[in-house]
Amino acid sequence: MTTMESLIGLVNRIQRACTVLGDYGGSDSSFSLWEALPSVAVVGGQSSGKSSVLESIVGRDFLPRGSGIVTRRPLVLQLHKTDEGTQEYAEFLHLPKRRFTDFAMVRKEIQDETDRITGKSKQISPVPIHLSIYSPNVVNLTLIDLPGLTKVAVEGQPESIVEDIENMVRSYVEKPNSIILAISPANQDIATSDAIKLAREVDPTGERTFGVLTKLDLMDKGTNALDVIEGRSYRLQQPWVGVVNRSQADINKNTDMVLARRKEREYFATSADYGHLASRMGSEYLAKLLSKHLESVIRARIPTITSMINKSIDELESEMDHLGRPIAVDAGAQLYTILELCRAFDRIFKEHLDGGRPGGDR
Ligand code: GDP
Ligand code: NA
Ligand code: MG
Repeated sequence: MTTMESLIGLVNRIQRACTVLGDYGGSDSSFSLWEALPSVAVVGGQSSGKSSVLESIVGRDFLPRGSGIVTRRPLVLQLHKTDEGTQEYAEFLHLPKRRFTDFAMVRKEIQDETDRITGKSKQISPVPIHLSIYSPNVVNLTLIDLPGLTKVAVEGQPESIVEDIENMVRSYVEKPNSIILAISPANQDIATSDAIKLAREVDPTGERTFGVLTKLDLMDKGTNALDVIEGRSYRLQQPWVGVVNRSQADINKNTDMVLARRKEREYFATSADYGHLASRMGSEYLAKLLSKHLESVIRARIPTITSMINKSIDELESEMDHLGRPIAVDAGAQLYTILELCRAFDRIFKEHLDGGRPGGDR
């Protein structure tokens, strides 16, 4: 008896193989299996709280920090839930033999790998970094962190960066298979949210946008965000989720994530404004909601994905014939790998379709 890999894990393995072949969200590769694969893209203005939300979902400090444009390449972050009591670790696609157990080193490697492609010039690049985190404290989920939307270029950056970022982010979220995690701060008017502006443009009916409202604790006394959270300010078909992340003071004091999550739970449980919604607020709830949604979207798309995979198999096979076998060059080896992966997925997806339960055993 074998344990079936989670659907989300399967899809991420194809995405990783695609990236190796130059096929990813922002690319215009003709080989576009990636486009058929659902993923969750994180979108928001600079300092809206994107990194904070991601770290809360993971329960770990691991993202680069600083002022200016910190995220300059997409980060495809795959979370794998492992058995209780197992050691938490991280692994990069570009460093397959190295297990990171020190998350400060994960942060440093994201920075270094960003610089390797973009130079220290603060340019951006659409080529994603793939990071997997294995932990008993996460849900199965894949998230893509994207550069923050910004209105002005900072010192040393070309004027075009504002538009370059917007175009890169748009190229990820305009695909119909993309689920949008739109992050907006509660202490700014929702009508001015960069995330909502872009989401409204690419997903006008709001069917694939999840609105996240950060910084609820920073709102002016006597005001609340119920109009947004209850969908009256900007209607989405998916629920709005409010979160309270660590403040800059908390980060400076090294408040750990376990304590931060507990403080967030207490905030909602004891809030006069949001107490009645407490079970549907906070980062832990958001992570579960997204995991369930991503799983169900993948499940619903299995027929489309398998037919895309079959089409890709045909294309890859003819490309292989063209290259001739056996193949020594890198490209051939990569094509071969992805071909093998696609065949395996085709089989496994069919099994899921024939009565597999979500994440279940067979
Ligand atoms: P990003 O630029 O979108 O990735 O934003 P960050 O996650 O880096 O957050 C920007 C700043 O806002 C940091 O100083 C965070 O500590 C702070 N911040 C983010 N979310 C919250 C929140 O919910 N409450 C409070 N008080 N501060 C927050
Ligand atoms: Na914003
Ligand atoms: Mg950030």
